[in-house]
Amino acid sequence: MTAERWQLLPPLTDEEYASLTADIAAQGVLVPVVLDAASGEVIEGHHRLRAWTELRAEGVRVPEYPKQMLRFQSDDDRVSFVLAANLFRRHLTKEQRAEVVTRLRAKGWSLRRIGEAVGVEEITVRRDLEGATFVAPERIEGADRKTYPARRPRSTIFVSSPRDAARAAKALQALGDDASGLIGLTRAEERVRMANLSRMRVEAAARPSEHSGETWELRTGDFREVLADLAEQSVDAVVTDPPYDNEGVPLYEPLGTFCLRVLKPGRLAVVYAGNLQLDREMSLLERGGLTYMWHGVNVLAGRHTRVRVRMVFGQHRSVLLYSAGPYRPRTWLNDVTFAEGRGGPEERPLHPWQQALEPVRHWVRQVSEPGELIVDPFLGSGTTAVAAVMEGRRFIGCDIDPGCVETTRRRLLAFLIEEAPTHGQQPDGDAS
Ligand SMILES: C[S@@+](CC[C@H](N)C(=O)[O-])C[C@H]1O[C@@H](n2cnc3c(N)ncnc32)[C@H](O)[C@@H]1O
Repeated sequence: MTAERWQLLPPLTDEEYASLTADIAAQGVLVPVVLDAASGEVIEGHHRLRAWTELRAEGVRVPEYPKQMLRFQSDDDRVSFVLAANLFRRHLTKEQRAEVVTRLRAKGWSLRRIGEAVGVEEITVRRDLEGATFVAPERIEGADRKTYPARRPRSTIFVSSPRDAARAAKALQALGDDASGLIGLTRAEERVRMANLSRMRVEAAARPSEHSGETWELRTGDFREVLADLAEQSVDAVVTDPPYDNEGVPLYEPLGTFCLRVLKPGRLAVVYAGNLQLDREMSLLERGGLTYMWHGVNVLAGRHTRVRVRMVFGQHRSVLLYSAGPYRPRTWLNDVTFAEGRGGPEERPLHPWQQALEPVRHWVRQVSEPGELIVDPFLGSGTTAVAAVMEGRRFIGCDIDPGCVETTRRRLLAFLIEEAPTHGQQPDGDAS
């Protein structure tokens, strides 16, 4: 049996996990990790422990984490403890609560018992389960501890609305036999993306590591190596979105150095940046040699990111504008863009960090002219590559992950095949 069996709540999102890690790096683990005195198993605090372990492995000097040993009478006791601890600390969205409710139902709990544990009325539990698809147990156990046959149909992903049902059906179809067990929709879509990326890695292995079209070129590998041959002062603009988790942030310094070398004097690097460590990202770009010019924001319509450790509902991405040497303005710039759609995970089908396309096109248009050369050292799913080609710019990009390069190649080819007649003829106006 694994410790994960006590992880009853939906996992943190990448961003939430990154912020938890940053917080632990700064302050250490503040809330004790709870261990079962009998077995030594982690009962509560998996995320804190994982972040702490990863930081230590990276050589970050975080103090020993506090532990609390507790004795439990039964597994029910453990479940109740995990729920109480987490529901108190986390403010669940309706969707997340419904996921917890569904997990407990799948464990065989009755509606009343679930309601008591989660702290909602039985009617709310019923509503959470309504329209849900989930793996139903053969029998359920009531508050009286007697078991009864379950009446729910068997399926895999929990959903709570017709819109989500369509997404779930798509995810299930893509996952095929891998869709075993009960998973939430967000996790299912994440698994689809990861499965696609690994498929792309396998397919990329069968191809040469460089791909190119008439006006674009993709390379596989670390940007410090595979873009080392770009001539000094040969690039008109860098438009990029580096990873901004703990591993990614240190890359801002070599990115700054790279941009300073390849950019034409006074031209811009447009760098998406995470808000949690914005100060560090900016000082690293400057340490790399770039000059601060401005910053813009990309407003996320509809949804927000909840950064629990700071208790902030984040509704924008920061976009940093740095120049190679003193900035030489060529045109007026607009510094706000609005992401199309609602920014939900279903709008990131190709990469967990896939950015909305329109804002990237906006930045490409603003910082370059048709025919000029744009570079992106961190392709991901190739949003900048597609934006650049759509806007009639030349493009060179790379990614360390061959799956990302292959995804980008396909995305570019799909665009070129479908949009060939209008390619390069987009109006050069402002989309924001
Ligand atoms: C935030 S993602 C880019 C997402 C992209 N903007 C999109 O819309 O899909 C950052 C990418 O950088 C890649 N990466 C990380 N370290 C790298 C390195 N040293 N050199 C090149 N690529 C790297 C990762 O594999 C990841 O795909």
